[in-house]
Amino acid sequence: MTSSVDPIGCSGFSRRAFFRFAAGASALASLPILTEAHLALAQRPQFADPNKGIHIDANENPLGPSEAARQAIANIIPRGGRYLFDIQEDLAATFAGIEGLNPESVMPFPGSSQPLHFAVLAFTGKNKPLVIADPGYEAPIWAAKVSGTPVIKVPLADPKGAATHDIRAMLAASSTPGVLYICNPNNPTGILTEKEDLLRILAQTEREKVWFILDEAFIDFIPEESLIDEVRAASRLVILRSLTKFFALPGLRAGYLVSNPEVIQYFSRDKEPWRVNALAQMAAVESLQDKIYVARTKEWIRLERKSLTQGLRGIPGFIPYPSTANYLFVQLHPTLNLTAAELRERLILHGILIRDCNSFHHLGPYFFRIAVRSKRENQALLKALRQVHREIIKGK
Ligand SMILES: Cc1ncc(COP(=O)(O)O)c(C=O)c1O
Repeated sequence: MTSSVDPIGCSGFSRRAFFRFAAGASALASLPILTEAHLALAQRPQFADPNKGIHIDANENPLGPSEAARQAIANIIPRGGRYLFDIQEDLAATFAGIEGLNPESVMPFPGSSQPLHFAVLAFTGKNKPLVIADPGYEAPIWAAKVSGTPVIKVPLADPKGAATHDIRAMLAASSTPGVLYICNPNNPTGILTEKEDLLRILAQTEREKVWFILDEAFIDFIPEESLIDEVRAASRLVILRSLTKFFALPGLRAGYLVSNPEVIQYFSRDKEPWRVNALAQMAAVESLQDKIYVARTKEWIRLERKSLTQGLRGIPGFIPYPSTANYLFVQLHPTLNLTAAELRERLILHGILIRDCNSFHHLGPYFFRIAVRSKRENQALLKALRQVHREIIKGK
C-alpha cells in the first residue's frame, strides 16, 4: 500500500482530505447518515409498534439504561434551562480516565454513526478506496457513496464456516487505500478478529500511512480485545465507540471517536461544541462507571447467548455462528427450503421481527440476524421458530 499525504502542520493530514471532508459535510445536507437501525427500519412492516411484540432486528440491551444513568438524567433535568459549560468535558474525561488516555484523544458524538460517516468521508475519495469486509457493517459503504468513493469488498475468509476477516487479502486489496475499515466484533456475524491480526493491520497501516478505522461499537461485550491502548502511539488509527449497544442508550445517543489529539483537533473544526445533549452526556458518564450494570450485562449476555445458541442448534436446519456480541448470525440450511425473508414473514405473524441479511452483498437468501434479548423474549422466539419448523416439515 502506498499513500501520498500532504501534511498540513499536524501529523498525517492532507489538504485534500480537508476539502473532501468539507465537501462531504455539505453533501450531508442532502444525504442522510445511514445507520444499522435505519437499515433494520427499512425492513420493518408499517404496522410494527415498538411497544408491542418482540423486536430483535436491532441489537438492543434488554436491561435498558442503567439505574445510575436514569438517576443522572433526572438530576440534570432541573439544570436543563442553562448552558451547561461545567459538564461539557465530562464524558471525554470519564472515558479517558477509565482507559488511561489523554482526554484530548476522545471526541464525544451523539452515537458513533456520525463520526463513522465523517471519518469515511474525510479519508477516502475517488482514488482512495474504502476497503471493507463482506459481509460487514454497511454504513461505511453508504458514506462512501456520498463522495463516489470506490468500495473494495473483501469476502470473509470462510463465510460459511469460521467467517473471519481475511486480513492478508484486505491489506493487499488496493495499492492506494484511503481507509481500511474493520468492525470488531463484526456485524452481522458477531465474530471477533484476533488482536494479533489487528496489530498486523495497525503496523502496516501506520507504516504506509493509511487510515485504519476500527469500529468497536460492540467491543464492550469483550473489552479485553479492544485496541484502545494503541491509540496513544498511533497516528492513523481511528477507533469508534458507542454507548448505544452494551450501555443501552440508543434513544439517548452517545458515542465517541478516539484517536490521537491531532486527529481530534481536525475533526473538531466546524463542529458545534454542544453535540451531545446534557441528558445523554450524564447518562453516558454514569453508565461507564456503573460497575454493577456492567457486571449484570455481562452475566445476562453470557447466560442468554449460550441458551439461545443451544436452543437454535436444537432446531434442525438452523445453524448459529459463534458470537462474541449481543446478536447471533444464523444460517438456514438450504435443504429446509426456507429463506430468511420467508422466515421473517412467518415470524411477523408471531409478533417477532428479525433481520433478514439478504441485503449483505454476497450472502444470499439463507442468513438472518437476531438480537439476544431477555429470557422471556428468547424463549418466545425459540417457541415460534420450532412451530415454523414444524409447519415447514408438514409443507404448510
Ligand atoms: C457496527 C456498528 N457500528 C456503528 C453503529 C452505529 O451505532 P450508533 O450510532 O447507535 O452508535 C452500529 C449500529 O448498529 C453498528 O452496528
